[in-house]
Amino acid sequence: MPDTESSVLYWGSDPVRFSPGETIAAALQRHGVTDLGAGVGELHGRYFCGIGTCQACLVSVSGASAVEACLTLAQAGMRLSPALLPGHPDAPGAGA
Ligand code: FES
Repeated sequence: MPDTESSVLYWGSDPVRFSPGETIAAALQRHGVTDLGAGVGELHGRYFCGIGTCQACLVSVSGASAVEACLTLAQAGMRLSPALLPGHPDAPGAGA
């Protein structure tokens, strides 16, 4: 895999390299990121089912609504963070 900025996304400020066709979850797992922050209900954010069912892998892309990391293809320059789930004061559409 070429070692270029075209195959890098960011978990917070941490650069994460990925391969073409790889999901966000796969890239984060390979990089050693297993804690995806607050999850849904009692669950902590993490990679679990891998098929979009459990919703445990939700992450925010550039502060926008949450996406399933296991289904979403990694793209260069993505800025990922723990999901801003409904009820979080910083979630899209919340407050003010
Ligand atoms: S790991 Fe279950 S929805 Fe992504």
